[in-house]
Amino acid sequence: MQRAQRRARLLYAMAATTQALLFATKLAPSSTVRLLSGNRMPIIGLGTSELRHHTAESVAQALAAGYLMIDTSANYHTQRGIGDAIRQCKVARNSIYIVTKIEETDDAYDATRLNLAELRLDHADLVLIHNPPERGVGEVLWQGLRRAKRERMTRDIGVSNYSIEQIEELVYRTGELPAVNQIEWSPFGHSPRMLDFCFDNHIVIQGWAPLTRGLRLNDDKLTSMAARYGKTPAQLLIRWSLQLGVVPLPKANHAQHQQENLDVFDFEIRQMDMVKLRTLNEHYSSTGVLPYV
Ligand SMILES: NC(=O)c1ccc[n+]([C@@H]2O[C@H](COP(=O)([O-])OP(=O)(O)OC[C@H]3O[C@@H](n4cnc5c(N)ncnc54)[C@H](OP(=O)(O)O)[C@@H]3O)[C@@H](O)[C@H]2O)c1
Repeated sequence: MQRAQRRARLLYAMAATTQALLFATKLAPSSTVRLLSGNRMPIIGLGTSELRHHTAESVAQALAAGYLMIDTSANYHTQRGIGDAIRQCKVARNSIYIVTKIEETDDAYDATRLNLAELRLDHADLVLIHNPPERGVGEVLWQGLRRAKRERMTRDIGVSNYSIEQIEELVYRTGELPAVNQIEWSPFGHSPRMLDFCFDNHIVIQGWAPLTRGLRLNDDKLTSMAARYGKTPAQLLIRWSLQLGVVPLPKANHAQHQQENLDVFDFEIRQMDMVKLRTLNEHYSSTGVLPYV
């Protein structure tokens, strides 16, 4: 077979095995994705690590701009500011989706209670095990989160930075699937195998560092493709995640960045460009290693 033909076939196969085709329908900032529980989650959220100095102001500005999901964790030190912003803003609490996390050394139930106390909320929407523990896969943590869910302290529970094997082991030990796996995700660092696994099991991937923490925004292939669409590299990265069915969590302190990152609903990346972006994959991670691959 001619080289070009072989390549075209391979690209088609890659595109066809993903959710990409399913998400070709019109997306909007208010679009949601359905979790295994039947609850719905916004398709884009604001990351808040490193937002600690002006958290309340930044989050209030993001809520006003149209963000409906905020991602946090006790160790980001942003929970108090997020609580302040929710109180100050005009958006109703039940329209705002709050994600928080517990650490592998925590008592999951107590840590959830402390997170809620810091946020000054009676429930979160999603609580995640931030990282898989060094030993085991967190079945005790999971039981604590299940208790928190039973007591309506959170609507859903999930994991973060888990590999496929760790999720399978957790499911084997607990009999329950996580609603979400939050992992680092960009064209430069992702896993088609994880995408297929999560899709097959109705686990939603939330993508952290979707902008590579700004470190790969000057990549030549990315900048030239973004220019063709009349969009910025950051917008192209966010839209790429959205079209794969991955929920991006871009962090932005600056109002202009927040606005820009939400302004991704007036264009669509063509299928061939989606695949080209996937071929940038080098398992890149802003922290050195992509732990789930
Ligand atoms: N589960 C986990 O283990 C885990 C780990 C890390 C992060 N997270 C979550 O994921 C979120 C996002 O990840 P991240 O904060 O590491 O990285 P990121 O979202 O990839 O990048 C954030 C950086 O990009 C800049 N930026 C934002 N919008 C931009 C734009 N339009 N153009 C140019 N630069 C732009 C931000 O600047 P400004 O802030 O100055 O606007 C900031 O310096 C975190 O905030 C956190 O909520 C989860």
